[in-house]
Amino acid sequence: MANTTLQFPGSFTWGTATAAFQIEGGHDADGKGPSIWDTYSADSSRIADGKNAKVSCDHYHRYREDIALMAQLGYRNYRFSLSWPRIFPQGRGNVNPAGLDFYDMLVDELLANDITPFVTLFHWDLPQALQEKGGWANRRTADAFADYGETVAQRLGDRVKNWMTHNEPWVHAFAGHLFGHHAPGISDLPRALQTAHHILLSHGLAVPRIRSACPGARIGLVHNLEWIEAASDKDADVQAAKRHDGAFNRWYLDTVFYGRYPEDMCAWYKDAMPEIQEGDMQIIAAPCDFLGVNYYTRRIMAHETDSGFLHTRQVRWPFVPRAQYEEWENNPEGLYRLLLRLKRDYNNPPIYISENGTPLEQDKVIDGICSDPDRIEYIRRHAAAVWQAIQDGSDIRGYFVWSFLDNFEWNFGYSKRFGLIHVDFDSQKRTVKESGHWFSRVCKDNGFSL
Ligand code: BG6
Repeated sequence: MANTTLQFPGSFTWGTATAAFQIEGGHDADGKGPSIWDTYSADSSRIADGKNAKVSCDHYHRYREDIALMAQLGYRNYRFSLSWPRIFPQGRGNVNPAGLDFYDMLVDELLANDITPFVTLFHWDLPQALQEKGGWANRRTADAFADYGETVAQRLGDRVKNWMTHNEPWVHAFAGHLFGHHAPGISDLPRALQTAHHILLSHGLAVPRIRSACPGARIGLVHNLEWIEAASDKDADVQAAKRHDGAFNRWYLDTVFYGRYPEDMCAWYKDAMPEIQEGDMQIIAAPCDFLGVNYYTRRIMAHETDSGFLHTRQVRWPFVPRAQYEEWENNPEGLYRLLLRLKRDYNNPPIYISENGTPLEQDKVIDGICSDPDRIEYIRRHAAAVWQAIQDGSDIRGYFVWSFLDNFEWNFGYSKRFGLIHVDFDSQKRTVKESGHWFSRVCKDNGFSL
């Protein structure tokens, strides 16, 4: 396919994505309350190199310069999250006016630069005050989330029309409440499942509240989804792949699209099943306007008795690492197959690829240049998979690169760089990587050459 040009539909949305805790810094500025990630990362043994995100990219103080750079590069759509404890330091009750003002100014700055905002309400930084009342395992947190969503939609909804309630409920529920390597650092399967249930419930509770506060809102939920295959055609491996798909994909899709948990997984979880009240599933299935898909990899799964909560094992062959030092496979075909599967099984929903990208070890600035050809290739091949899915009838509306800036990569600290823009965390200097310049041309041309 050398020199083939892939042209995208005229209305296609190209953009970049970030999350509040990963870039803002300003951890206690202007009345912000602590989040569970502030608490978790205060224990330096939890984060690579003992780092924290008190300053990170200092975007809280540098947002004007960052947006100017975004505008200069022609990235016309920006997905970012709000820090809930910046707005409600106690999680509910009194609003911190300075916190809400910050996002008001950020939105105005974006619009003044002709950049369309896509707002995510929750990207994992729960107010610590709510964690102390049980966090997401407490059903009242779902009500607090709906109140928070309505408050910000009332304030920003005259200018923000694209809303994403949650980012990756699976990751927050499981990395934070079963595997324990994300905040709040808990390891308990029933708690992870109850957390996931209340996050989904909070999504469903928030949707009508946002709609009434923001006429014309387009609302969706962002899931991390994978393409999953069985390691062999042996029944045990086929069932293992089905379980992984059930826990990872269908648990979050069947609920929001069909208002039910997958039966095979309910049977698998047995006593660990969450408490579900009457009417919850209808609330969770509130009609939405799009699905956000974060895609990073495919997985090949085999059966392994007593291994993990699913009795599965990931098989590493054939395996092309996403980056030289990565455990995740680089598999754009998986994205294509996943998108066609969503079309088939979930009635062709409108989709945004809300995150896709890769970290690279080679991201170093030498003589003012940051050369990252592997990232260009990674994005090009994944965006080509999106193009192919569109040709084959998938309703894909846009693609956001993760991430606009190098940032605080959760438990990896600053050791993984995903940005199109390199950040020197000592000087806060920004340097556009070669991928950033390449993506700038993609946005302007609405396509690229293979
Ligand atoms: C997503 C998150 O899971 O992937 C982002 O929404 C995160 O916040 C990104 O930074 C990269 O994740 P990972 O696991 O590759 O470090």
